[in-house]
Parts: sequence; structure tokens; C-alpha cells
Amino acid sequence: MEYLIEKEREFFLQTYKRLPIIVDYAKGTKIYDIYGNEYLDFLGGIAVNVVGHSHPEVISAIEDQIHRYMHLSNYFYQDVQINYASRFLEVTKYDKLFFTNSGTEANEGALKIVRRWGNQRQKNKVISFAGGFHGRTYGSLSLMDKPQYKELMDPFLDGISIVEYNDIQSFKKVVGFDTAGVFLEFLQGEGGLRKVSQEFVDELWELKSKYNFLVVADEVQSCMFRTGKLFAFEHYNVVPDVVTVAKGFGGGLPLGAILVQSHLKDIFERGMHGTTFGGNPVACAAGLATFNVLYPKMIPQILEVSEYLWKRLTEVQNKFPSKVLEVRGIGLMCGLLLNFEAIRLVEKLLEFKIIANATARNVLRLVPPLVITIEDVDKFILGLENALSKV
Ligand SMILES: Cc1ncc(COP(=O)(O)O)c(C=O)c1O
Repeated sequence: MEYLIEKEREFFLQTYKRLPIIVDYAKGTKIYDIYGNEYLDFLGGIAVNVVGHSHPEVISAIEDQIHRYMHLSNYFYQDVQINYASRFLEVTKYDKLFFTNSGTEANEGALKIVRRWGNQRQKNKVISFAGGFHGRTYGSLSLMDKPQYKELMDPFLDGISIVEYNDIQSFKKVVGFDTAGVFLEFLQGEGGLRKVSQEFVDELWELKSKYNFLVVADEVQSCMFRTGKLFAFEHYNVVPDVVTVAKGFGGGLPLGAILVQSHLKDIFERGMHGTTFGGNPVACAAGLATFNVLYPKMIPQILEVSEYLWKRLTEVQNKFPSKVLEVRGIGLMCGLLLNFEAIRLVEKLLEFKIIANATARNVLRLVPPLVITIEDVDKFILGLENALSKV
């Protein structure tokens, strides 16, 4: 089976640094390789597998749906799409949604909404934040300051200013009556698990009422109760105009969405926006089943295990104060700020059969399935302490 590693190199554009694991199958919070090794998964498919791998209710919903139909196109009325949309929207303050395939596609659509709404009001400038991550297509990349993802790929979209995160003075220098919208991750994932401050949000909303612009919350990574609430912005006292979701929203299949408040419900006319696969019925079936597993019954367990994980991570920080500088994030979207390259810890953790990931160079990112148990956390902490004592 080692030949698979060679074949990957032979056939694929070399854009990914893969972990040295040839996977056989995955179940719950564990991934098994072809040699029978069991790995504890604290990466969860990069915040996707919210109910763990191969959840029986998700599998059964997918099976039922594939026997009915797998794809029809958005020319048809499909109960599974409508059931998921209504189930999801009813627990939010949002009025309508548009299904996409991915997070970046949701952000592209949100950018079109911002520009269209703005152009109706003689404003077309957009503001986003340093350290943000919105995806790999041109609109999303234009919102990002990451040179390593953009090198020699210009020109990008015009009219976008990227300002320091949590820095209201930089923001005030660029915001004005020509501002159409602001893209914000209330909790930055790729940016190193940094969260926006309540003071920044308060000022942002004051400026929003002065200048009249839209706020788009990119909740692609933070949605689906990962922070203990459906969306990360619910930890603040505001309701953004537009929200983008993906990752866990499809329960392991490719699905995203743009959610809008009622004042934007007519922003697009027929034919102005669309997708062939977005809202795929099998993905909607998986997403709906996932949502139903989580809400409402799983919420107390998510809160309990988050609290326990944070307690244990804080103990680890106290035990290794020169290596672990901070525990960051919210709930089960958290991380450790390290005083060294996080990839070294990721590699060491792998020796203890634990999967986690490095982001923003020196942050260990933890986005496990939301179904992790207290025993999983104990096992993770044991491995983490062993790994930390060896790096
Ligand atoms: C906050 C955020 N937005 C957007 C994206 C892009 O999502 P996708 O990879 O589904 O296009 C990601 C992916 O990591 C993300 O974390």
C-alpha cells in the first residue's frame, strides 16, 4: 500500500502536505490506518466531522436519499433541501438561505450580495481583516492578506481594504460612507484561533449605524455549535446581516450556505446567482441528519466536554509554561499558542497516535468532532503532555 504515496506524488499537483497515514476507515472519534493503528482525531476533517466519522444516523439518511435520487439540479422542488433549510433557519434570526458546495463559494456569493446592495446605494468598498481566511477562489483570496496563497496570482479584486484584526483605529482610517460591507470571522480559525474583542464589535456596530454597511460573518469553520452556540457571533450581542457556513454544515459531504436577514431577501433576481451542485440532496440529507443529532440533545454534552477540555488544557499550560503561552479560542474550536513551530508538536503527537494540526505557524489547532468524550480528552491530554515533554 506504500505505493499510494508514490502514486499521489505522480498524479496530483503537489499542493498538500499530507500526514504519513494511509487510512483504512474511520469511526466516531478514531481513524484507523491500513496497519491497524488507531488514531485519536482532534482535527475532525478540518472541523467538518462534527458528529464523528460514520455516524449511523447520517449514514442511514444518506442511504435513504441515494435510493430516491442523488442529483436533479435546482430546477426541481426537493423536499430534503426544503426540510434542511427550514429546520436550520427556524433556530436562527435569518430569513432565507442559498445553498452552495463549499465555504469559499458561500463567501463569493456573500461578496456579490455586498457589492450589489452597495451599488444600489452608491457604495462599493469592502473591508476585511488581517489573518482572516475565506477560501481559495479569487473573491475570497482578495479578502485575505496571506501572500503565500496569492503569490504571482494577481490581479485580485479592487476596492478591498484589509485592516488589522481587533484594531479599531486602523478600521476607522478606511471605513466611510462608501463602505458596502465588512467580512469578519468572529473567531479566526486559520488566523490562529484569535477571537474578536467585544469592544471591537461594539465600535464596529456603532460605525455600521453611522455609515450603513453590511456585516458578513464568515462562520464556515465556527458554525454547527462548535463554540457551544450555533454561530460564534452569538457569543456577542449582535446579529450580522449575512452569514456564510460550510464544513460541518454538510455532515461530511460538500455543502455550504449563505444566510441573509429579511431585509436582504430580494437582493438577487431570478437567474442572478446559481450553482449546479449546491444544495445537493444527498449532502442536504447528511447535513439535516447531522443537525438533528446535534440539536438540541447534544448541546449539554458539547458544553460539558468543552469546559473539561479547557480545564485540562489550562493545566497543561501551567505544567509547560515556557512552551505553551496561551490557550485560545472558544469551546471546541481552540488552540495552544506555542513558543515554537507548531508543526513540530503535530509530528510528535502523531507518534502518540493523536491527530491535530498546526496553524498560523505557532498555534496548535484543535477542532475535534463535537462528540468527543471525557475519556477522549483524557487520552488526548496524556498524549499532549508526552509530546510536549519531548519537543
Ligand atoms: C473561516 C473559513 N472560511 C472559508 C473557508 C473556505 O472553505 P472551503 O475550503 O470549503 O472553500 C475556510 C476553510 O478553511 C474557513 O476556515
